[in-house]
Amino acid sequence: MCGIFGVVNDKAATETLLKGLSALEYRGYDSAGIATLTEGELDCRRAPGKLINLEQVIEALPLEGQTGIAHTRWATHGQPNEANAHPHLSLNVAVVHNGIIENADELREVLSASGVCFLSDTDTEVLPHLIANYLSAEVCPALAIQTALREVKGSFALGILIKGMEDQIIATRRGSPLVVGFNSESAFIASDMVAASGMADEILYLEEDDIAIVKAHDVVIYDAQGELVERKKVTVDHDQFVATKEGYDHYMLKEIHEQPNALQRTWNGFSSTSLNQIEEIDFANIDRLQIVACGTSFYAGLVAKYWFERMADLIVEVDLASEFRYREPPMPKKGGCLFISQSGETADTLAALRFAQSKHQYCLSVVNVPNSSIARESDYVYRTLCGPEIGVASTKAFTSQLAVLFGLVKKAAAERQAGKGILSELGKHSEGDVISRVRSALMNDEKRHAIERAARIFENATSAIFLGRGQCYPIALEGALKLKEISYIHAEGYAAGELKHGPIALIDEGMPVVVVAPYDRLFEKVVSNLQEVRARGAKVLLISDKLGCEMCKDYADQFIEMPTLHEVLAPFIYSIAVQLLAYYTAVQRGKDVDQPRNLAKSVTVE
Ligand code: AGP
Repeated sequence: MCGIFGVVNDKAATETLLKGLSALEYRGYDSAGIATLTEGELDCRRAPGKLINLEQVIEALPLEGQTGIAHTRWATHGQPNEANAHPHLSLNVAVVHNGIIENADELREVLSASGVCFLSDTDTEVLPHLIANYLSAEVCPALAIQTALREVKGSFALGILIKGMEDQIIATRRGSPLVVGFNSESAFIASDMVAASGMADEILYLEEDDIAIVKAHDVVIYDAQGELVERKKVTVDHDQFVATKEGYDHYMLKEIHEQPNALQRTWNGFSSTSLNQIEEIDFANIDRLQIVACGTSFYAGLVAKYWFERMADLIVEVDLASEFRYREPPMPKKGGCLFISQSGETADTLAALRFAQSKHQYCLSVVNVPNSSIARESDYVYRTLCGPEIGVASTKAFTSQLAVLFGLVKKAAAERQAGKGILSELGKHSEGDVISRVRSALMNDEKRHAIERAARIFENATSAIFLGRGQCYPIALEGALKLKEISYIHAEGYAAGELKHGPIALIDEGMPVVVVAPYDRLFEKVVSNLQEVRARGAKVLLISDKLGCEMCKDYADQFIEMPTLHEVLAPFIYSIAVQLLAYYTAVQRGKDVDQPRNLAKSVTVE
C-alpha cells in the first residue's frame, strides 16, 4: 500500500532515495518524503502528491547525508497532505512505515499524556515517539526497538534512523514485506524487489518480526525471540525486475501488448515449486477446490470455476479474500485451497491463506512476484512469468493467471479422468491458438483503432453496464473494474441473465451497455438481453467474433470484432478488448492511466 526505501553509505544518498521512490511510486502516490542523517543531525523533506513535488522541494532545499530513509504513501489514516507525509520524527528518531497500526489511538493517548505533541493525524506518528521512549545507552537499539514494538498491534514494515548512528538503518517487519539489499558500496532496504533490483546485487528477505541493523557491508538480524539469525542472501536477476515503458505512452499499454510473450513464458514455464518440500497436489484426492483472491485476481478465479467444473468435474467455490478470512467457513479435511495474487502481498489474501493453513488445507498459490509473502507461505506455488507489472490496473498478470489456471485445470482433468470430450475439442494446440489470436488482435492496427473509436461510447457517460454469460461473465466484471479504476466512470458488470431481475431499471436513454459475447452456445440468450436493453434506450457496444457481430448487426450501435476461438478460451481474447477499451477511455478523459487516484498496486493493508 505504501513504499519504503533506505540506503546506507551512499555519497549520493538523496539521489538514490529518490530513485528508489520512483521505482516504488506504483505502490502509492498520495505524498512522499525523505529523512537523512548527517553529523549528529536528522533532517527531513516531505511533500504532498506525487514524487515530482518532493523532488522540487529538495531541489530548493537540498538534503545532505549518506544514510537515509524514504517513503511514498497511499493514505490510510489522515489526509494525503504534508503533515501526514512520512517520515515521521520524534526528537532523535525518524520512521517510514508501510502497514497499519491498529492500536494507534490508545498509544497516542498514552504518549500525549506523557507530553508528546503530535503533528499529524497518522497512525505511524506514534512509532518514533514510542521507540524514543525505549532507547537507552545501555541497550542495543535494535533490541530496544523490538521491545517497543511489542506494544504495537497491526502490520508494519519499518525503516528507522536514530540520530548519531549515521552508519546504519534499523529495519523490521510484521505482516508487510521488506527486503535488504547490498552492492559493493552500500546497503538498501525496500518494500519490494523492484526498487532494490536496480541497485542491489544481493538481497535477503526479512521474516516476521525480524529486526535488522543494516550497515554498508554487514547486517545483524535478530529474530522475533531476540536471537541472532542469518537470512539467506540471493543474487538479484536484474533482468527479471527491470521495468521501463519501452516507448509506450503508459506502462499499462506496454503491459497489454506484452501479453502474447507473457502467455508464452508462463505456459513454457508451467511448473510448480514448493518451499516446504510438500508433494504436489493430486486433484483426484480432493472433492472440492476453494479459490480465494481480490479484485482482478478474483475474476481470474471466477473464470477458473467455469473451467474446473466443466473440464475437470471438480466443484469449485470462489471467495473474496476479505470475506473468506472473517467468515471462517468450515473446511473439509485435507481440502484444496488456491490463492491468486499478482503481488503476493495482498493483506486479505495472505490472511486467508493463513486461515486455510490453520485448517490444514493443501494451499496452492498463483503468484507473479517471486519470493513474495504468499509465495513463501504456500505449500505449492505456480508462477505467472509475465515480469513486473507496474500499471496499477492489472492486465498481463490477469491473462497470465488465466494461463496458469488453464494449466491446472488440464492437470486436474487428467488426474480426475474427466473432460475428455472438451479437451479433445480443444486439441493439443489450444495454448498456441490463444497466443496467436491474442497477438493478431494486438498487432491489428484497424482493430485497435476500432476499440479506440468504440471508447467514445463513454464520452458523456457517468455510468455503464457490462454484460456477459458463462466464462465471459467474469470478463464483464473485469471490464467494468478496468473502466472504473482508470477512467473513474461508475460501471457495473452483471451476468446477462440477471439484468431483468432489477438492474434493468438502471437503463435509461443513451446509457452505454457493453456486451461481451462470443458466438457460442449461450449467444442466443445474450442477444435477447441485448435487445431488452436496447429497447429501453441503451447504447449497445457488442464485443463478439465475426459471426456474432454479423448476427447482431441490427441490434447494436457499435461493434468490436475479436478473433474466433473455442468458447472455453474466449476469456483470453475478450480480456484484451475490455483492457484496451478502458485504456482508451481513460486516455480520452485525460486520466492518469498508470497511477489512478486513490489506488495502489499492492494492497498490503486490510
Ligand atoms: C486490478 O486491476 C486492481 N488493481 C486490483 O483489483 C488487484 O487485482 C487486487 O488488488 C488484487 O491484487 P493482487 O493480485 O496483487 O492480490
